[in-house]
Amino acid sequence: MPPARTGYSAAQIALHWVIAVLVVAQVVLHEGMHAAYREARGGPAATAAESLMADLHVAGGIAVFLLALLRVALRLRRGAPPPPAEERAILRFAARAVLFGFYAIILLMPLTGALAWFGGVEASAAVHRAGMLAIFVLLLLHVAGALYQHFVLKTDVMRRILRPEKSG
Ligand code: HEM
Ligand code: HEM
Repeated sequence: MPPARTGYSAAQIALHWVIAVLVVAQVVLHEGMHAAYREARGGPAATAAESLMADLHVAGGIAVFLLALLRVALRLRRGAPPPPAEERAILRFAARAVLFGFYAIILLMPLTGALAWFGGVEASAAVHRAGMLAIFVLLLLHVAGALYQHFVLKTDVMRRILRPEKSG
């Protein structure tokens, strides 16, 4: 068991935000990848700009995967701060479910994307597309939860993903 913590390390915080920005970019900038994938299955040719965006989608996705592995390793080795003591059981369960969902997303989106792109597995592309909806729902709940903790419950949950724990 990792030791009890009062906060995240600087590396954990940096990984949280780099991965968050990359995931949002992957979702917002998916059009080129969509066009390249259509071309690969015999559709109309993608433009040069779309092909470039597709390359960036693949590279960005692989980066998310590698950073996610590092993040999981750090989480297992170093642990994470416990949820606020005053948090209701139902909220605690919801927060846990969302965080588990996010870990699944950052590991499975790159894998399903790669299986579709490099392996031509259409079923995997369908799962990958469904992942987009999952990200929207999770992000909405996650951000709403973070804001609720900060402004209504006035806990330190938001602060601890912004500022590292002092003892390192
Ligand atoms: C797609 C983008 C995002 C992903 C994939 C993501 C993922 C995660 C994950 C997996 C954790 C759990 C860390 C752990 O305990 O192991 C976490 C924590 C956290 N995230 Fe995000 N996050 C994203 C965006 C955001 C945004 C936009 C905010 C702020 C509005 C935010 C606020 C927080 C906070 C406050 C925590 C700490 C929760 C706690 O200590 O209990 N996240 N995030
Ligand atoms: C965190 C990583 C990733 C995220 C969040 C992500 C997100 C997305 C999104 C939102 C779409 C658009 C789905 C739609 O049009 O309905 C998409 C399409 C696609 N992505 Fe990713 N992706 C990631 C990683 C990857 C990787 C690493 C690859 C390949 C190696 C990949 C290959 C594809 C392909 C082939 C499509 C086209 C699917 C289609 O048009 O049917 N993705 N991705």
